[in-house]
Amino acid sequence: MTSKRQPPQLSRSEAGPRAWRRDRLGVAARAAQECGDVWQLAPRVYVAATAGPCETVLQRTTYEYETTPGTFLPTKRPDGSVPGPTERAHGHAARMRALRPKAVAARIGDIAPDAARFAADWPVGRDVDVLPRAQSALADIGCRYLFSTDAETLQAAGARLAEAREGIIHSWPLPPWVPTPTRRFLARQQAVFAEALQGVIDRRRSTGRLGEDLLGQMLRPSSQYGLLPDAAIIDSLTGLIVATAETPTRAVGWILLTLARHPEVAGRVAAEAHALPADPHTVTGAHLDQLRYTQALVREVLRLYPPNWLLARRATRPTELGGYPVEPGTMVLVCPYTAHRDPVQHPDPGRLRPDRWLDAAGSLGTPGVFLPFSTGPRACEGTSMALAELTLITAETARRYHLSEPPGPVPSHRIATFGALTPVGLRLRATPRS
Ligand code: HEM
Repeated sequence: MTSKRQPPQLSRSEAGPRAWRRDRLGVAARAAQECGDVWQLAPRVYVAATAGPCETVLQRTTYEYETTPGTFLPTKRPDGSVPGPTERAHGHAARMRALRPKAVAARIGDIAPDAARFAADWPVGRDVDVLPRAQSALADIGCRYLFSTDAETLQAAGARLAEAREGIIHSWPLPPWVPTPTRRFLARQQAVFAEALQGVIDRRRSTGRLGEDLLGQMLRPSSQYGLLPDAAIIDSLTGLIVATAETPTRAVGWILLTLARHPEVAGRVAAEAHALPADPHTVTGAHLDQLRYTQALVREVLRLYPPNWLLARRATRPTELGGYPVEPGTMVLVCPYTAHRDPVQHPDPGRLRPDRWLDAAGSLGTPGVFLPFSTGPRACEGTSMALAELTLITAETARRYHLSEPPGPVPSHRIATFGALTPVGLRLRATPRS
């Protein structure tokens, strides 16, 4: 420890609970500018505002910091056991067999048709509520990626689970033991999904046809760990089925809004998308690699509007952050939103400049900090899949349409920051490109 100082804070009128509730992004941006790398939102609630402290906290998660408890309750095991670190490592390794970049590249043909359908079925000439359409397309992609031929069996239960979870993240954060109606609804939907998935697992095991999808990877024994218990598979897939659509939906909203607001950028994406084959079933990883400008745009939008704009951690042991001591129990909020908008990392940070992600040879690079998927031991497992689906949805939409915000005084969306950064109620209109 170098000092007993506490991080600086804005005045109470600028950053008290009321100001925070009214304009979280504004308070975070002002505090990062005025207070520097680490600031204090409330007693024992610190915010890591710039690249260095954000990356430190995320990298040290699991040994100096812990994540907050998840939404879903773990499935009860017949022997009463609880998952330990070995089982968690086994589950992670099994999921990553299906989610690492090479595995995703090999399954682009399973993602591209739903991405193309999302664009082809867009009702033209009228204002469309974008997020529910995106959510439905992404849920289809996710279900197919996880369960391939069993997708239809699990789709309805998966959709209700996602709906129940959305209710939880928008409800007031009461202690976990309070049985609110939203929590009871979530518990019921979790049980229904688990039962349907158990049926699929039993059938695959009894026929020996484990499948080549993500579930199939989890059913295969690993040489290091052996077989993963069914309860662990069910818990993993309960989280994954929601993760495949929830955050990507918000990202699609921000990307399509950006296309509507920057027609010149949309034009470049559209031009590039002509390289995609007309039949989406034949799209491969090589086609995706060619969409460099579109990939750069996706990264640039995630830089400006990271859906997980604030990641919560709690210190588990005495440590130090940005020169300030951190006591165990202190909540540290990691803020990719302000880190991404630091001019030291990304010059002219408020401006949309997809080209900043491309080097002189036109290859993708990482010009500065990029944390929309977090980093370290709890980083997003679905990064490659998410980038692939967002790139394809963006390209397929831009090649068919000009998007625009509805004319008139009513805003096209409202920005929500509680839970995640979301363009709530986003409405856009598509007109076919000639
Ligand atoms: C635009 C899309 C996405 C974004 C921005 C995103 C972002 C994130 C972030 C920031 C975290 C870490 C949360 C934290 O540290 O508290 C995370 C965790 C996770 N994400 Fe994603 N995600 C996306 C899509 C996906 C997809 C498509 C999947 C599944 C295929 C997925 C699966 C997961 C899982 C399993 C974790 C938990 C990892 C762990 O706790 O060890 N995500 N995601």
